[in-house]
Parts: sequence; structure tokens; C-alpha cells
Amino acid sequence: MKKFFALLIALAAIWLAGCGGITEKKDASVQAQAVPTSKILVAYFSRAGDNFEVGIIEKGNTKIAAEMIAKKTGADMFEIKPVKEYPFEYKECTEVAKQEKAENARPEIVSYVKNLDQYDVIFLGYPIFWSDMPMPVYTFLENQDFRGKTIIPFCTSAGEYMTGKESEISDHARGSKVREGIGIRGKDCQDKPDAVREKVNNWLTGLGY
Ligand SMILES: Cc1cc2nc3c(=O)[nH]c(=O)nc-3n(C[C@H](O)[C@H](O)[C@H](O)COP(=O)(O)O)c2cc1C
Repeated sequence: MKKFFALLIALAAIWLAGCGGITEKKDASVQAQAVPTSKILVAYFSRAGDNFEVGIIEKGNTKIAAEMIAKKTGADMFEIKPVKEYPFEYKECTEVAKQEKAENARPEIVSYVKNLDQYDVIFLGYPIFWSDMPMPVYTFLENQDFRGKTIIPFCTSAGEYMTGKESEISDHARGSKVREGIGIRGKDCQDKPDAVREKVNNWLTGLGY
């Protein structure tokens, strides 16, 4: 009888040890699958119509760059749209934007990002308006919870530069971290998309995308 119990205990011990081994393996594979995938969003403001140096365009310069970034990173896209559209005509548009900047206005926007929670990284695109970001971009940044998010700015303009205003993004998107952005010449988005794509892709590769 004693021998029988001893054998039973030994068998139980072997069985438990075996289970332990399998469990460990299972845990490891579950852990490997559970690595969080960082969802990326490209949020951009851009304006079609009569524009600086390019005449009448169907797709805004910044939107072209935004699509390139989304394609390379597999990101979702979100358009920042003011409720009151900017004038079609370039000169008129500059006057409206000048006034908004002077008033430090926060023009209402059509919508905000649904489930912003699911995104860790947000590429933020905009044209330079009067050496600044267009005011609807401030509306976008100030009215959502960007805590813990990484924002990577990109802009288009008359040149290949950023204004320095991007370093203030986290003052508006409170709790966010801002990474180094890129300035793209707007006209090149229309005339030399391949060159812009190469520049954008090199920048993204440098950022680890
Ligand atoms: C209202 C307004 C203000 C602008 N101000 C500047 C500026 O200060 N500096 C600059 O380099 N370009 C300026 N531009 C040119 C735009 O930044 C440029 O054309 C940009 O690529 C437009 O992008 P979008 O087509 O995505 O709207 C301005 C354009 C507009 C319409």
C-alpha cells in the first residue's frame, strides 16, 4: 500500500512539473503576442484652392505630405477642418488668417479624433500661416487629452523650414512630448512629389519608422 501511495505521489509530481513547464512556455508565447502595437495617427490641416506659388490646387500641399507619412507608417488619417472654411482665393485667405492670428482666435473645428486613446504617436501636419500654425490647429491641440502622447510635427510653407513654434506644441497639447519635425516646401509637394517622398521617407527612417 505504501509503495502504491509513493508511486502515486511520484506520478503526481512528474505531472505537475510537466504542467509547469508547459505553462511557462505558454506564458512566454502569450507575452510575446501581448507586446503593445503602437497605433499611429496623422492629423493634418491643409487647404485646397488658390494657393501660394501653385495656383489653384485640388489637394493641399500638407495633405499630400500627410498621405506619404500615413503610407510609410501605416497610420490612420484625420483632417482638422475649421467649421468656417477659409476663402478660396489666396490673398483673401491670408487676410482672414492674419486677423485670426492677431486675435489669437480658436476657430471652431468640425470634429475631434474619436478614440484618441488608441494612438500613442501623432504626426501633426499644417501649412505655415504667418510664421505660425493655423489657428484651428491650436483648437485641435487644446481640446483633447494628449497626455502621454508623442507628437511629431511636419509643415509645408514657402521654404523648407519650421518656424520654431512647434517647440510650443506641448504647451497647448498638455502632457505631450514633441519630437523633431520636418519642414517641406509646399510647391514641391505638387511639382516634385517623388523628391518630397524621398525626403519624408528618409526623415521617417531616421525616426525609426
Ligand atoms: C494664410 C497664409 C499664410 C501663409 N504664411 C506663410 C508664411 O508665413 N511663411 C511661409 O513660408 N509660407 C506661408 N504661406 C504659404 C503656405 O505655408 C504654403 O503655401 C503651404 O504649403 C500651404 O499648404 P496647404 O496647401 O496644405 O494649405 C502662407 C499661406 C497662407 C494661405
